[in-house]
Amino acid sequence: MRDQLSRPPRSSKPLLAVLAGERLPTPPIWLMRQAGRYLPEYREIRARAGSFLEFCYTPTLAAEATLQPIRRFGFDAAILFSDILVLPDALGQRVTFEAGGGPRLDPITDGRTFARLRDEPDWKTLAPVFETLDHLRSALLGDVALIGFCGAPWTVASYMIAGEGGGDQALARLFAYRQPRLFSLLIERLVEASSEYLARQLDAGAEVLQIFDSWAGVLPPAEFERWCVAPIAAIAAKVKTRAKAKAPEAPIIVFPRGAGSQLAKFADMPGVAAISLDTAADPCLAARALPHRLALQGNLDPLALLAGGSALDEGVERTIAGFDGRAHIFNLGHGVQPETPVEHVERLIARVRGRTR
Ligand code: CP3
Repeated sequence: MRDQLSRPPRSSKPLLAVLAGERLPTPPIWLMRQAGRYLPEYREIRARAGSFLEFCYTPTLAAEATLQPIRRFGFDAAILFSDILVLPDALGQRVTFEAGGGPRLDPITDGRTFARLRDEPDWKTLAPVFETLDHLRSALLGDVALIGFCGAPWTVASYMIAGEGGGDQALARLFAYRQPRLFSLLIERLVEASSEYLARQLDAGAEVLQIFDSWAGVLPPAEFERWCVAPIAAIAAKVKTRAKAKAPEAPIIVFPRGAGSQLAKFADMPGVAAISLDTAADPCLAARALPHRLALQGNLDPLALLAGGSALDEGVERTIAGFDGRAHIFNLGHGVQPETPVEHVERLIARVRGRTR
């Protein structure tokens, strides 16, 4: 073990080194939702951006939002500024974001509303996303890795059916029980669209991909297998065959929030190099359930970061100790809360980087 720690990293970018299976004495760190409302400079550009989707589709502003937390905190990874719901938008579903109220979509309720979707995304709609990545590829300096992403089919479908977030995704679960053939068509449409979308993100400059399955935790095992695991496996396989430049080795991080005892179902997918653990997951148990070749990401409670003080300090120590012995990427168990003081993020980084294993 000591030997491995003292060898020079395989990549000069710490995030890529860990995704290649290396254990680093100081884990690379980035945070889900590291761009966003907790940053005053984000609120400033958000105020002049128009609608949230216009913001996502304006490459100069989106690239700026990605870069803000990198400049301020020096994270080891930058994540594309966009949203998982640009895909339904590009498939022709009406998507809006109400100020403070979350996303609203014209819900898919039956075969008629499903038939309004395009067969494949309108790539012209998504062109600004690729332009943003292209811009970031040249703007990012040094050891910062660039992450592209999409939502997992189950999570995206649950918004497309409910028309909004929240709850326990009951509408989507009922839809899947009552109209399984139609639901399966929707999931297939999303698998195809997401695979191509991720492959194009790699071609545009993303080095790592993360798939967010934020609502994976509400399904019983059989449905979990069918609607969460199988579609993500299909996407991982398709991305590998589709992306031109970096496909074969592009590492994928899967975030199956709430997967609990079923995490190991994501262990054997092509390209999947890491599993991101949610707040409730015990890193020691997850480490035992997952093969050693997988890196683990996570999983400080975003509320410990919001609270700061000893909750934050103890949370950092416990998190680092929990992943001991594994290739680890420090992150939260879910996204940064908008009320989080910037000083707490500074303190978090100082504490993660200021210690040695
Ligand atoms: O910094 C980053 O992480 C990159 C950008 C990013 C956003 N959304 C920007 C955003 C990423 C990776 C996402 C993913 C996302 N979007 C997920 C999966 C991760 C998770 O949090 O579970 C989900 C479920 C969504 C859907 C979504 N987008 C919701 C439910 C909301 C409203 C709630 C909220 O947090 O505001 C959004 C809006 C959104 N996406 C904002 C940002 C910065 C806030 C919009 C604003 O500034 O007005």
